[in-house]
Amino acid sequence: MASTMKAIQISTTGGTEVLKCETIPRPNITGSDDVLIKNHFIGVNFIDIYHRTGLYPLPLPAIIGREGAGIVESVGDNVKDFVPGDRVIYLASSYAEYVNAPAKYVAKIPEGVDSKVAAASLIQGLTSHLLVSHAYPVKKDDWVLIHAAAGGVGLLLTQLVKSIGAHAIGTVSTPEKAELAKSAGAEHVINYTSQDVVEEVLRITNNEGVHVVYDGVGKSTFEASLSSVRQLGSFISYGNASGKVPPFDITRLATKNIRLMRTSLFGYLVTGEDFQKYTSELFDLLLGGKLDIKIWKTYKLSEARQAHEDLEGRKTFGKLLMTP
Ligand SMILES: NC(=O)c1ccc[n+]([C@@H]2O[C@H](COP(=O)([O-])OP(=O)(O)OC[C@H]3O[C@@H](n4cnc5c(N)ncnc54)[C@H](OP(=O)(O)O)[C@@H]3O)[C@@H](O)[C@H]2O)c1
Repeated sequence: MASTMKAIQISTTGGTEVLKCETIPRPNITGSDDVLIKNHFIGVNFIDIYHRTGLYPLPLPAIIGREGAGIVESVGDNVKDFVPGDRVIYLASSYAEYVNAPAKYVAKIPEGVDSKVAAASLIQGLTSHLLVSHAYPVKKDDWVLIHAAAGGVGLLLTQLVKSIGAHAIGTVSTPEKAELAKSAGAEHVINYTSQDVVEEVLRITNNEGVHVVYDGVGKSTFEASLSSVRQLGSFISYGNASGKVPPFDITRLATKNIRLMRTSLFGYLVTGEDFQKYTSELFDLLLGGKLDIKIWKTYKLSEARQAHEDLEGRKTFGKLLMTP
């Protein structure tokens, strides 16, 4: 095995120019609870952009990326659940040929699930699953507003909401994305670049508003989300694709007794048992046909810059992957 590898390691935050593919020493097992993985697929997520720009600060230098799928090369002394050759998904710094991942965030990919699909569904699939099952448990016949419904998380959220028997209203920026959101199960789609979201939501819901809004867009949709929620409804904020939501006066929630929650996937994955339980539920959803994973494009690791430009340029729908 070579002693070096290709990786995207940033030493400063900034624009996409900081994403340079470099040759650095290949990791060895450093901790007795670690698993060394040869990457086959690397997931690209919006959080990688927050890490690159510094919105979510990382100690530098840092290999960015948060997820991938590959084959176990070797394991630390305490690791009993994995052996070399296992096909796995993991959560760890991933923009590299090899990754040293903590065993608590590694899971075997079951037979019947393709490694590419597993990599494409991990963060966005777990996020969607936990949003509809824990952050606000969606019930049959609920009205649900999903922003960026053709995005990676958005398409999966829409499918899950539909499979529960609730009514999904999606927002998107283009007619092509509207078609995709509809094919994922959105009953209504609003183009939030040309239509008034609140007006449309109230029209669709007979002036009542939605039981829950899932908002990963953040700054630009915050006000519309607040106004679209019904009396006693829930506002689940889970991202900032358009920028961070500025501080606001919480007494505004009192006009409709709105529950407001800001979730992070990692807040649900405190222990290794949490990770195993929720990934196993995710695999059940995949194997049961409840989630259809749309892959926008598989880039090369050396094309990370292009992948970031496409994702933050709102060009993409579904999942972006890279291969080392
Ligand atoms: N809380 C968590 O643990 C967690 C986990 C995973 C993801 N997330 C969040 O979920 C959101 C979606 O993530 P994703 O990876 O699936 O990305 P994505 O939805 O595939 O891409 C972001 C989408 O947001 C929309 N958008 C609206 N305004 C935008 C702007 N000014 N700049 C860029 N995009 C804008 C675009 O869709 P339109 O063109 O249709 O507007 C764009 O395609 C992100 O905010 C991410 O941080 C949170």
